[in-house]
Amino acid sequence: MQKNYGIKFVSFASALPSLCIKNTDLQKLYDTSDEWIYTRTGIKERRIVSANESGLTLSVSAANEVIKKSNVKPEDIDLIIVATATPDKLYPTMSCMLQGKIGAKNAVCFDLSAACSGFVYGIVTASQFIYNGQFKNVLVVGVDVHSRFLDWSERTVSILFGDGAGAVLMTSCLAGDDQLLGYSLHSGADVNLDLELDNSNVMYSEFKKPKCPNFVKMNGKAIYQFAVRVVPEVINELLDKINHNVNQIDYLVLHQANQRIIDSVSEKMKFNKSKVISNIEHVGNTSAASIPIAISEAIQENKIKFPCKMLLVGFGAGLTWGAVALHLR
Ligand code: ACO
Repeated sequence: MQKNYGIKFVSFASALPSLCIKNTDLQKLYDTSDEWIYTRTGIKERRIVSANESGLTLSVSAANEVIKKSNVKPEDIDLIIVATATPDKLYPTMSCMLQGKIGAKNAVCFDLSAACSGFVYGIVTASQFIYNGQFKNVLVVGVDVHSRFLDWSERTVSILFGDGAGAVLMTSCLAGDDQLLGYSLHSGADVNLDLELDNSNVMYSEFKKPKCPNFVKMNGKAIYQFAVRVVPEVINELLDKINHNVNQIDYLVLHQANQRIIDSVSEKMKFNKSKVISNIEHVGNTSAASIPIAISEAIQENKIKFPCKMLLVGFGAGLTWGAVALHLR
């Protein structure tokens, strides 16, 4: 595409709820163990919202932090995209509510639904508006609060998820200084029912009320197989596109779904362990928030050396998957 401008990734930030639920806490809910959960998922604990917290409060914290780090005033933000599959309300959108809370009064706002790929889809969507000159400052937030949509009496799915929010501020710069090296997005409905959160069980015509709240349903094995197949494929596709090889990439940040998926992909792709960012052990799977939380924490902990080239790969319900390559300076 015609690029009139480049994109600068100015700052990353994240926010987690205060309540920490350890694997040993889950043993009080059902028959499980820290050892079973840790060896199969790499997760030790996750953060879950309490009554005074929500997707919005987490988004506000992450957004305010990213704005503070960026020197961009809230009123200078032109566009807010919130990627989420678990909005606090079906409407108003999370992005409009966030706009009000952070004082971004001149922003255009919309939510983007692509499940765990939402943050990657959000970056790519934002980039189109910056490349064509429509918008200068764009805030992209990934947030999910899956704890409200889990069956906490069922042990296969509820062990996986945690709540959280992550954000990035993207601004336009000279085309020659572009920090977005390339991207690749995909969707495929072939096994979409293997991961779903149904919202269609209230029907006026049948005067039917939901028998129980709507819970996430997942075929864990099918999702595992999907991830370890498509993630290496999309990484190879993107590397070809940008004419890079694995050795030229400094950091790999996969959607933090499961440590076994992260290990399998990095081994298959021959990424040295030191290049692979993982924080799933203490946050669990935070869906659309997982990539920006992982980056933000890694920067905070000085694990990222600049300048660097970084691959971000999202995959999730839909099914959706996609990768972006960044050259952060
Ligand atoms: N504690 C103890 N035992 C358990 C638990 C638990 N929490 N959950 C299931 N089991 C038991 C089962 O009942 C079963 O027992 P059985 O053999 O007596 O019938 C046994 O453990 C094996 O169960 P499986 O469902 O076959 O377990 P599996 O080895 O497939 O592991 C898991 C389940 C961890 C979910 C795995 O399938 C997986 O990693 N899938 C990837 C899915 C994923 O990461 N999803 C993330 C969300 S989606 C996304 O972000 C894109």
